[in-house]
Amino acid sequence: MPITTCIFDAYGTLFDVAAAARIAAAEPDFPQLADTWPAVAEHWRLKQLQYTWLRAITGAHTDFWQVTQEGLDWALERNGLDGDTALRARLLALYWELQAYAEVPAMLHALKEAGMNTAILSNGSPDMLNGAVQSAGIRDVLDDCLSVESVGIFKPDASVYDLVGKRFGCAKDEVLFVSSNGWDAAGASGYGFTTAWVNRAGEPLDRLPWTPQHVLTDLTGIPELATA
Ligand code: LAC
Repeated sequence: MPITTCIFDAYGTLFDVAAAARIAAAEPDFPQLADTWPAVAEHWRLKQLQYTWLRAITGAHTDFWQVTQEGLDWALERNGLDGDTALRARLLALYWELQAYAEVPAMLHALKEAGMNTAILSNGSPDMLNGAVQSAGIRDVLDDCLSVESVGIFKPDASVYDLVGKRFGCAKDEVLFVSSNGWDAAGASGYGFTTAWVNRAGEPLDRLPWTPQHVLTDLTGIPELATA
């Protein structure tokens, strides 16, 4: 079936999750981040994701804002920055207005011009996603923001990917699912979507039972892929 529906992961895919630590590090109030910001960003992301998987397999769901805070607390302590309440507050505030990658607006416009359905499918809570979409100025080129909060479990549980068919009434093979998270692209492939893994950092392929059909270095090629 031709692709009718392009679905995007949010954090790391449309929005640059390292931007919060990178921006705070450039501000005069936070010289303590000058050398540590890459490690803080990496540890924050790693723990945030680990906590989503652990909560999903144990049935202990909470929302993404809580695991984002808990991941940050671990990352700050790991880097000797625990107890720095001003830094914690600034990093969390920046998470609500993450920058979109530069090619995102034009890429989404091209998909809409080609008549595609477009949406985010994310672990993010609806209010977090609204904040990020608003600050990136891409609301008018997205048909919807689908959040795991409507099913109460994180990716890659199949009930999350089910939200796409329920919203758009499309078959799995009409969906191009795009994620920079290798495990998410793999999970969506296993579910039955056609997938594109956006591998900006040149990371190795995840060793999982499923693999993405396409691997790209950024989002520029998505409209061509969707309409091929
Ligand atoms: C999301 C996380 C996985 O947006 O990046 O769902």
